[in-house]
Amino acid sequence: MRKKIVAGNWKMHKNAAQTSELLSELIAKVPANTTAQVIVAPTFVNLAAAVNQLKGTNISVSAQNVHQTESGAFTGEISADMLTSVGVNTVILGHSERRAIFHESDALIADKVNTALKHDMTVIFCFGEELKDRQSGNHFNIVENQLKDGLFQVDAKSWDKIVLAYEPVWAIGTGETASPEQAQEMHEFIRETILKAYGKEIAENATILYGGSVKPENAKEIFGKPDVDGGLIGGAALKADDFVAIVTAI
Ligand code: G3P
Repeated sequence: MRKKIVAGNWKMHKNAAQTSELLSELIAKVPANTTAQVIVAPTFVNLAAAVNQLKGTNISVSAQNVHQTESGAFTGEISADMLTSVGVNTVILGHSERRAIFHESDALIADKVNTALKHDMTVIFCFGEELKDRQSGNHFNIVENQLKDGLFQVDAKSWDKIVLAYEPVWAIGTGETASPEQAQEMHEFIRETILKAYGKEIAENATILYGGSVKPENAKEIFGKPDVDGGLIGGAALKADDFVAIVTAI
């Protein structure tokens, strides 16, 4: 079912005390009757405490990554079972920083998606073109290939556990937000791409978030586009008033 979602990707920010402080502010300020499903993604070390602090609220918790293997000699890594054992049932995968900095390939991301779905987790699947791709007019091909090579191995029934997050790399952390028209154009293309691969029902019910310099001043216009179902927020998620303003913009 197509959902309205605003998720905050905290990346490598906030220690335990700062996480608790921001969550207390969000608990106090996020309206109880929001249209949007609200998700926050603190770092691994703060997930269990965040789940406990958010119990009974309308805010849920996501991880920012997961290893593709069930368990083993993978120093520093975190498994899906470890996440679900502390009540984390959502995970962000394929983020451009994982792709660029940690060299995660489409094939590796596909493995991670499969593992997360096997543990009945919801996957927030990130993808998006780089500036050079858009400048050369190749952005639609790049996005289509990321979907086909990283996600389209899943079967039809998995789609109720999939949330897409289109994040043009050139808009992430730059303040260079895609225009509402650019976002809508790509989201429409993404929905058409899903239609060709999975049919009308899954395409129409797919939740497609936009990410990349979403701020309180631009959220309403972007979220107002017909194929934009919410946002994946970075910098603005680290300030309670900004994140709440974005949540209530839907
Ligand atoms: O995952 C969301 C993030 O990449 C967007 O970052 O700071 O441009 O909102 P930001």
